[in-house]
Amino acid sequence: MTDTSASQPAKAWSGRFSEPVSDLVKRYTASVTFDQRMALQDIRGSLAHAKMLARQGIIGAADLADIERGMAQIAGEIERGEFHWNLDDEDVHLNIEKRLTALVGAAGKRLHTGRSRNDQVATDIRLWLRDAIDQILALIGEFQERLLDLAEQHAATPMPGFTHLQVAQPVTFGHHLMAYYEMTRRDAERFADARRRVNRLPLGSAALAGTSYPIDREFVARELGFDEICANSLDAVSDRDFAIEFCAASALLMTHLSRLSEELILWMSPRVGFIDLADRFCTGSSIMPQKRNPDVPELVRGKTGRVNGSLVALLTLMKGQPLAYNKDNQEDKEPLFDTADTVIDTLRIYADMVGGIRVKADAMRAALAQGYATATDLADYLVKKGLPFRDAHEAVALAVRAAEDSGRDLPELALDELRKFSTLIEADIFDVLTVEGSLASRNHAGGTAPDQVRAAVAAARARR
Ligand code: ARG
Repeated sequence: MTDTSASQPAKAWSGRFSEPVSDLVKRYTASVTFDQRMALQDIRGSLAHAKMLARQGIIGAADLADIERGMAQIAGEIERGEFHWNLDDEDVHLNIEKRLTALVGAAGKRLHTGRSRNDQVATDIRLWLRDAIDQILALIGEFQERLLDLAEQHAATPMPGFTHLQVAQPVTFGHHLMAYYEMTRRDAERFADARRRVNRLPLGSAALAGTSYPIDREFVARELGFDEICANSLDAVSDRDFAIEFCAASALLMTHLSRLSEELILWMSPRVGFIDLADRFCTGSSIMPQKRNPDVPELVRGKTGRVNGSLVALLTLMKGQPLAYNKDNQEDKEPLFDTADTVIDTLRIYADMVGGIRVKADAMRAALAQGYATATDLADYLVKKGLPFRDAHEAVALAVRAAEDSGRDLPELALDELRKFSTLIEADIFDVLTVEGSLASRNHAGGTAPDQVRAAVAAARARR
C-alpha cells in the first residue's frame, strides 16, 4: 500500500488551520503530561481495534502485522522509560500514533480507521480503571485480613463502647474492630458493583455517531475482556458515570478509614492510652522532644478531603455538558488518577498499620470502670424481675447518682446499698454488674459477646 500524503502534518488535525496555537494554549489544552499513564491501555485498545479491522477486511493482514510489530516496540520503549513524550502531540493517543507511523509508515496511519479519540479515550480510561479497581479490591482484602486477626485476638478484650464520646456500655475491642470490617465489606461490594459498569466497551462509537465501516464491536469487547458493549454511541463517548461511581465508592471508603483514623488518634492520645501505634507510623516534633504524633492516621483523615474533592470535581465537570463529547472531559483524568493513587496508598499503609497496633487492655478496662458502663445491665436485671423499664431506668439513675457521690462504680456498692433503690435486687446482681457478665449477656447475632465476635470473624473468613 502506498503513502498518499506528501508530508506528515505537524498535528493530526492541523490541515485546516492557518496558524499554530500559542505555547500557552498548547500547554493548556494538552493532556499528555498526565494521560501518558494510560499508555499501555491505549496500546492494548489499539491492538484489539487493529485486529478487528483486519478480520473485517478493513485493513490488510500486512498492516496488522506492521501495527503489532510497531506497538510491541513502543510498549518496550515506554516500559523502559525511553519513549519521548511530546507536548506538540497533545495527548497519549496522538503521541503513540505518531511514533507508530514513524516506525511502520502507512499502516500506522490506517490504525485510526473507524475510530475517534473520543471512543478511544473512553476505552483507555475504562481499561485503566478496571485494573485500579482490581488492585483496590485485593488491598481491601489484605486490610480486612489484618483487621480480622486483631479482632479475633481481642474477641474478649473489654473496652468502653461510646455514644456521644461518653462511656455507654461495655463492648469488646474485637467487636469494635468488626464494625470496620463491615464498613469495608460494603466498600468492596460497591467497587465490585461499579466495576460491572466500568467493564463495558465504548470503542466503535467513533466520534459520536458510530462509523460507516463494517466493524465488529463484540469481537473487540471479547479481546479486551469487556463484559458487553456500550449500547448507544452518543452515551458511550460522553459517559463518565463510571468514573463518578468509582470516586463515590472511594470517598466512602476513605470516610470509613478517616473515622478509624480519628479513633486511632484518640486512642493513642496519652489521655486515653488504649493503643499504641508502631513507631514507623509516627513522627516526632522538631521542638517538643516528648511527642510521638500519629501522623499517618492524621494524613488519612486529611486525604479524605481530597478524595471527596475529586468526587465533587467530576460531578461538576459533567453537570452542564450537552451531548456528546466535549473537551471538558479531559479534566476527568487527574481527579480520577489522584483518587486511585490515594486509595491504593492508604489501603497499603493501613493494612500494615493495623497489623502493628499494640492494645493496652488495662487502660480500656480502667476507662470502663469510670463510666458506669453496666448501668443498663442493672436496669435490664430489674425488668427481668418484673419492674417496668421506665421505673427500672429511674431506679438505676438514682443508684448511679449515689455511686457517683461516693466516688465508686456500681459493682462497688454493697448489696444493702443497692437494695435501697429496689428490693428486687439480690445477690446475683453482681454477676450482671461485672463487665464480663455484661458482655456475655449480649449473645445474639450482631451482639458484642465474645462468642459472637468469634463467630463474626469466622463468617468473614469463610466469605473470602
Ligand atoms: N485528550 C482527550 C481527552 O482526554 C482525548 C479526546 C480528544 N477528543 C477530541 N475531540 N478533542 O479527552
